Amino acid sequence: MDRRWRQNLHIEAPEGWLNDPNGLCYFDGLYHVYFQYSPGTPKGEATRCWGHYVSPDLLSWKYKGIVLYPDIPEDRDGVFSGSAVTFEDHIGFFYTGNVMEEGPYDYVLEGRGANVISVTSSDGDVMSSKKVLLKNSDYPDFCSCHVRDPKVWTEDGIYKMVLGARTKDDKGCVLLYEGSSPDSFKYAGCFSVPDMGYMWECPDMFTVDGRKFLALCPQGTERGEYKFQNIFHSGYFTVDGDKLNDFEEFDYGFDFYAPQTFAAPDGRRLLIGWMGIGDDSYSNPTVELGWQHCLTLPRELTVSPEGRLLQNPIRELDNIKCASKKMGGEVWESLPFEVNASDFADKASLTISGASVTWDKESGVLSLKLNEEGYGRSVRNLKLDSLGNIRIIADRSSLEIYINNGLYVMSTRFYPEYRQVKVTAEGVLAEIASLRLNDTLIAIGEALIDFIPDRKGCEFYEVGSFSPAAGGAPANVCGAFSKLGGKARMITQLGKDPFGDVITRTLEEAGVDTSCIRYTSEANTALAFVSHTVDGKSTYSFYRNPSADMLFEASSVTSDMLDGCYALHFCSVSLGDFPMKDAHRAAITIARRQGAIVSFDPNLRFMLWDDREELKRVIWEFIPDCDILKISDEELEFITGTSVIEEALPLLFTGSVKLVILTKGKDGASAYCSAGSVSSSCPEVKAVDTTGAGDGFIGSFLWKLRSLGVSREDLAACPLSVLSGCLDFANRFSAISVQRKGAIPSYPSLREIK
Ligand code: FRU
Repeated sequence: MDRRWRQNLHIEAPEGWLNDPNGLCYFDGLYHVYFQYSPGTPKGEATRCWGHYVSPDLLSWKYKGIVLYPDIPEDRDGVFSGSAVTFEDHIGFFYTGNVMEEGPYDYVLEGRGANVISVTSSDGDVMSSKKVLLKNSDYPDFCSCHVRDPKVWTEDGIYKMVLGARTKDDKGCVLLYEGSSPDSFKYAGCFSVPDMGYMWECPDMFTVDGRKFLALCPQGTERGEYKFQNIFHSGYFTVDGDKLNDFEEFDYGFDFYAPQTFAAPDGRRLLIGWMGIGDDSYSNPTVELGWQHCLTLPRELTVSPEGRLLQNPIRELDNIKCASKKMGGEVWESLPFEVNASDFADKASLTISGASVTWDKESGVLSLKLNEEGYGRSVRNLKLDSLGNIRIIADRSSLEIYINNGLYVMSTRFYPEYRQVKVTAEGVLAEIASLRLNDTLIAIGEALIDFIPDRKGCEFYEVGSFSPAAGGAPANVCGAFSKLGGKARMITQLGKDPFGDVITRTLEEAGVDTSCIRYTSEANTALAFVSHTVDGKSTYSFYRNPSADMLFEASSVTSDMLDGCYALHFCSVSLGDFPMKDAHRAAITIARRQGAIVSFDPNLRFMLWDDREELKRVIWEFIPDCDILKISDEELEFITGTSVIEEALPLLFTGSVKLVILTKGKDGASAYCSAGSVSSSCPEVKAVDTTGAGDGFIGSFLWKLRSLGVSREDLAACPLSVLSGCLDFANRFSAISVQRKGAIPSYPSLREIK
């Protein structure tokens, strides 16, 4: 899959279609975001499921898979939108089970079932069985069969729920339900106002700074010059008792709908919306690439002195902001970044690639205009009394424009061809700062099928049968990083053959991003047969003459593939005289430019080289470009000519090398940097299978390094206590993995290590 236009900071579906955010909550140390998901159909034709993302910090989101499918008669045509309530030891979820009866129905007054269904989960991933709480017959008589999107909360021990609805005479309204338990919801009233459309979707009732708000999405409102400029809308009423005051729109851009709010553990009320909209006339070119839509960044809600909601991007963004600089006129900048602007002349403008925001004081109109990068998005206008400030968060394919301290927001998708875009400011003081979320371990090189001998302790010719297992050192490193909860992406090429499928599946099951794996029919997926003798000698027989991975070309490596790269990891197996070697060069160049750590584990496989001197030469060609070099005690002498690490270090600290890690099998490992060295021993265990143990070691080491916030700049002077923490962690990780069979399947999760 082409990674062009993939966002860096925003939640997207791994592939296929995404719409509303659902079940937003904070539980067990993680933020959970569920979303309306139709995998496999970027245009969203398929029935909806719930996909699931988690994050420790609202910045780095990890996809966890689909958690709810339509699998009972009451939700057979879609697990529609809903919400979550958290308790001490579980999360309660409430959603709409959508049913479309077969027959000559109008699907407004008849033919559609809208059931409120609940499930619970003790970890956010595994759901209990489903319980139907309310059916159409339970809703008030004045309702059509459009009733949906339960938002549930608890207040003084009472369960409360709002549902969006359409009355039989085509008016939008919100139904309120209450009960002492989730099984006893009773109708408790209805909110509505005249002339506000035929249907209200996705309601949400919440309190900010002591004031009550009712948010909802009206459909069928009349378009105005400065309001309701999209096909469907989203906004909120302030609530006084049961009276609804003026309606304010949440967003004046092209792409915003179906937001939901939830409480962060520190009490902040956060809002996340769908940065998309159903049925509008403009489009998204990512459909051709197999996916569509994203969610907005989380927004913090506060109340203005006049009692209106202010929306501002989460303060966590400041943690990834680098080097703010004043800009006059024109600069080139790599997405994502943010622009802050104030002090506007009577006519002023800010332009980011094909999108411009212009201010005309005389008319008081702020306009957002897009060229062809908007794919049909033309202009949206906002009428203001005055313009105080603008903050724009620009990601790879979206802009979120916060105006006057968040009193107004305009969100839009836009699709610049390249990551580097031209930014101009005219008639305004502006500052630009790069935003860099580097949270992904990216590995390049071989992914192959290891054939593990069913018998150990014998020569290769004595092995009776071999069992296939997905492997390849770089792929294993991804698997280790990912199983710990980190984000990992594999760059390689596989054959269009069943073994290629096995590898993709194994990586996906381990949570690894496979969007940068290419497939070819020019060659097969690489295979490697292994045997192990009693004295620990391993014999390998490789089938790579050539294999698909070797043919991966440098021209296939794009900067979008390395987006979000925390560390780029590679080994020597793929550095032979074939195209993949140049692809490594290209990836390393991009990773270095992006400030990522480059990590190299030579991982010698002599039988792949006709000439050992050539192998040595290639290793020394690549060492100067890496920041972290991992070597095993068995490899040290071949690479450096000495088996004494102290003698080898002066040779190894060359070029960019800042950290050398020496692994010594069951004797643990040592790390060397300019600040000195540390060692860590390995817990004593009975090893069953050491396949991929070294890969698991470096994968878990890098995971720990990232979790401690160590960047490339920090590496040279990395405190020894940090390094020893990373070594201990990696040793514990490896000790668990060698007690089980296989590489990736043997790697433990964070929970198991704890
Ligand atoms: C809003 C919406 C909801 C519904 C969901 C289905 O975008 O139409 O009302 O529950 O999408 O995906």
